[in-house]
Amino acid sequence: MKIIGGIPLKGTVKTQGAKNAALTVMPVCLLLRGGILTLDNVPDLYDINTMIEILRDLGVEVEINRELKDPQMIFKVPDEIKWEVSETLARKMRGSSLLLGPLLASCGQISLPLPGGCSIGARPIDLHLKGLKQMGAEIDVQNGVVHAKVKGRLRGRRIYLDFPSVGATENLMMAASLAQGETILENIAREPEIDNLADVLRSIGVPVELEGTGGVRIQGVDKVHSGRERVIPDRIEACTYILAGVMTNGHIKVEDVVPRHIDAILAKLEESGAKFKVKKNTVETFPSKKRLHPISIKTLPYPGFPTDAQPQMAAALSLGQGVSTIEESVFQARFLYAQELNRMGADIKIARDVAVIRGVQKLQGAPVRATDLRAGAALIMAGLAAEGETTVDDMVHVWRGYEAIDKKLTSLGAQVELI
Ligand code: EPZ
Repeated sequence: MKIIGGIPLKGTVKTQGAKNAALTVMPVCLLLRGGILTLDNVPDLYDINTMIEILRDLGVEVEINRELKDPQMIFKVPDEIKWEVSETLARKMRGSSLLLGPLLASCGQISLPLPGGCSIGARPIDLHLKGLKQMGAEIDVQNGVVHAKVKGRLRGRRIYLDFPSVGATENLMMAASLAQGETILENIAREPEIDNLADVLRSIGVPVELEGTGGVRIQGVDKVHSGRERVIPDRIEACTYILAGVMTNGHIKVEDVVPRHIDAILAKLEESGAKFKVKKNTVETFPSKKRLHPISIKTLPYPGFPTDAQPQMAAALSLGQGVSTIEESVFQARFLYAQELNRMGADIKIARDVAVIRGVQKLQGAPVRATDLRAGAALIMAGLAAEGETTVDDMVHVWRGYEAIDKKLTSLGAQVELI
């Protein structure tokens, strides 16, 4: 993407359905047999389309109605489905690990190529496998493929998660839905995507009780029925546009936002002196004469500051005053974007898991490369605020998580062009 920077963004942009909610609620359809799952507000993204390909390959009929105001997806599940996930498709996306729980619970077996890592560090699934073993699954990993099977049904029980892993929580909640008896998960992830998954499971007849203490209680059922739910708005995409408005000193309104889903970001933005107004489901940013004040951030599991908004915040702070720090505590290595921002004149030094950001007055446009989807978003934002022309290469990463970002930015007055 080629960007001519220096133009304050103006106008209104609507948030897409959340990528990370859609990726976990779509495989819920695999719990059905001879039933239909309808999901509203599913975004049009690479990773979503990969998940559709995987589900179709397993035998699910997927109908997409994108011309509706509320894009809708209908999953018609036959009485029999396959349980072997294709290697090429599974390697295309990390989210393929979310097939483990539903396929094991409904077919009693699955063979799944281990999901690839990515540039933000190793992406093991040991917590997923440990929990499924505790529910009675026999798991064998051979030549990079997970072979899991269970004699009869998975058995519900109490499981403590060593880390509030989002994916492990999601897989175990889906597995527990068809298990024998009750499952209680402790120390689970509390991301809003987990609430969305609970709503979808309830819509197909699974009793799910989330407890505020970071636990969830699920009664396994013998059979689930057709259901329908809406995918929540994408809180990370929303933050990306809010920060783009702040960085370009523009005046934009981001619609279809759930403010409490982005509390951590809004609190840090307020602390840094950004000008914005929060309404029921919109956030509006305003120009400000002053550059952002220096702040310190540590990424944490929800409701802490989200790791997925860390690169974007670093880009915004690179134009701030003084020295800010961001400590990344969730992933091993999520700072690859820093060297790319430095090519644009930013002054970011990485000391192990802390980024030390010395604010500069201006960024200059430069040719840069996206290393993962959030890094790509951060570089695009920097390009919008920089003087001159920026080209962001390897946009494929960005298309995994940002629907029509070129069109959305153009509608906000940005000068961007896809090459
Ligand atoms: C989900 O990944 C999101 N992806 C990620 O978003 C997000 O960054 C992450 O949650 C944290 O919020 C999807 O929902 C598809 P984790 P997930 O399991 O489930 C370690 C984006 O930008 N871990 O909470 O993989 C893991 O290595 C993507 O949209 C284990 O060690 O996150 C990581 O360091 C990037 N063993 C940490 O826990 C396990 O079995 C958090 O992982 C599982 C995880």
